Amino acid sequence: MCGIIGYTGGGSQTPDGGDVLDVLMTGLSGLEYRGYDSAGVALANSSISVHKRQGEVSALEEALPDGSVDGYAGIGHTRWSTHGPPSDANAHPHTDCSGTVAVVHNGIIENYQVLREELETAGHTFESETDTEVIPHLIEDALEAGADRESAFRRAVNRLEGSYAVAAVFCESETVYAARHESPLVLGIGEDGHYLASDVPAFIEYTDRVIYLDDGEFATVSPSGVVVTDERGTVVETSIETIEWDPEDAGKSGYDHYMLKEIHEQPQAIRKCLRERVNEMAGTITVDDLADLESSGPVQFVACGTSYHAALYGAQMLRKRGISAQCFLASEYDADSIPVGEETLVVGVTQSGETADTMSALRGANRVGATTVALTNVVGSSAARECDHAMYIRAGPEIGVAATKTFATQQVALALFSSVLSGESSQAFVEALRDLPDQVQSVLDNSTAREVARAYEDADAYFFIGRGYNAPVALEGALKMKEITYKHAEGFAAGELKHGPLALVTERTPVFAMVSDDETAAKTLGNVKEVEARDAPVVAITDSRETVERYADFVLEVPETHPALMPILANVQLQLVAYWVANRLGRSIDKPRNLAKSVTVE
Ligand code: F6R
Repeated sequence: MCGIIGYTGGGSQTPDGGDVLDVLMTGLSGLEYRGYDSAGVALANSSISVHKRQGEVSALEEALPDGSVDGYAGIGHTRWSTHGPPSDANAHPHTDCSGTVAVVHNGIIENYQVLREELETAGHTFESETDTEVIPHLIEDALEAGADRESAFRRAVNRLEGSYAVAAVFCESETVYAARHESPLVLGIGEDGHYLASDVPAFIEYTDRVIYLDDGEFATVSPSGVVVTDERGTVVETSIETIEWDPEDAGKSGYDHYMLKEIHEQPQAIRKCLRERVNEMAGTITVDDLADLESSGPVQFVACGTSYHAALYGAQMLRKRGISAQCFLASEYDADSIPVGEETLVVGVTQSGETADTMSALRGANRVGATTVALTNVVGSSAARECDHAMYIRAGPEIGVAATKTFATQQVALALFSSVLSGESSQAFVEALRDLPDQVQSVLDNSTAREVARAYEDADAYFFIGRGYNAPVALEGALKMKEITYKHAEGFAAGELKHGPLALVTERTPVFAMVSDDETAAKTLGNVKEVEARDAPVVAITDSRETVERYADFVLEVPETHPALMPILANVQLQLVAYWVANRLGRSIDKPRNLAKSVTVE
């Protein structure tokens, strides 16, 4: 939901000999997963120069004037529209009437209409339909009233209601001013310059030393250092953390798309998720992140999209181990109207740790005294900081908008979480977990998903069915197909098909069926026969070829494993099918239309 970057280095040269504009453009490329319908930069000099364009960062790149665009400091923005459609005018940065200050913003200003009317009445002229544009005009008013730059920025921000990560530069100043409330903002501490951004990939190429801002904090970022203050202006003590990502991790490493690279990174990501948590000799599972967690009450999961599918899987794992567990779509969770209290453990499953719906649900749970856990990929994220406990999935950076390796590691982390909470783990399960990364690798090496994609790229719609542990993966397979191919796809618990959706099944609707060699096999096979009898093509994803081969047009095999881990393997096949269909259809795989990776609006 929009990405922002800021940089100041005390001169136009950056540590690697480039200029401020290079840093901003690199930063925007690293943030494009957060939104990509327009992009822009502003550089502060004796005046402010603003360059912005509708479209992706590459469109901005092409629109930049020849020769270097100089500045002492700068800010940039990549947008996912909320107020006003994508256009050059609505692209950030926005400026005041006199062109003294430029502002970028991520979030939603709920009282912008009132502020805009007030400012227009006072004579300000607006150039865009955005909520953001009120900020530079508020700053302008405060400057005219005699405030210095910092106080003018602070006064403007204090008038905002809603969510924001906001940054501003002024002409004739090397300082970038920033503030956050319910939208992420992280500072990067470099050798020769300082950075701020919505997320670390924006500046990981330059520095791995970061300070995460908390809600309500302001930052003054100048070449000589950064100062963080609270709402009242009191200086806040901060600690610098070191990020463990390699800048290489954020590149494509020769793959055509981040998504394909990230699908292939799953064995390694799962290994990292398991490291030092599974003791094969003792047959035990321990998670240091949860060392202080004590819970004997019911568990409620809150999550959205792909993470919700992982949560459905986690809830099943817990219920099979005798723990009461429910799943809620975070946007539907209302802690004030359901049974949740001090005895409840509320787990937010969120790879980004910033999803507004999930954060709102977790805040509700915190308010009623529940114990909260963030299951997340991002150290220092809002979820990690606001929950009582955080368990990390250790997937590494995921740039493709469609979640892949974060889903796999969420599932693995939830398998571990359920063992920790129930105190139940068998030698067989531990060994199955140990073998999982190699088995995922073998699926990647031997998959014939590309052939399946070729056969069915023209289908009218795709259906996905699975039972038990495989039911959440049926939903996930359909979501991935929709997101990146823009084709109609639906996932169902296999038994549900006959209760309505079967009416849609024809010879032009391939059905992907997960058939696991366990107690669910016979019933799922019955469902496969139902669709086969309606002439629908069947693609079986199975660890038991002989069971299903007769009824299937294609078989995508996965190695035999513990029944609880089969869906992790099956999902890799579904990811690859979706990828190759989208690839054949020429879709924008890493940046699907209308979507963004980190959804920071409710
Ligand atoms: C789909 C996808 C989304 C996210 C959802 C929640 O590929 O990525 O459905 O799963 O927006 O995001 P997080 O996990 O960051 O809370």
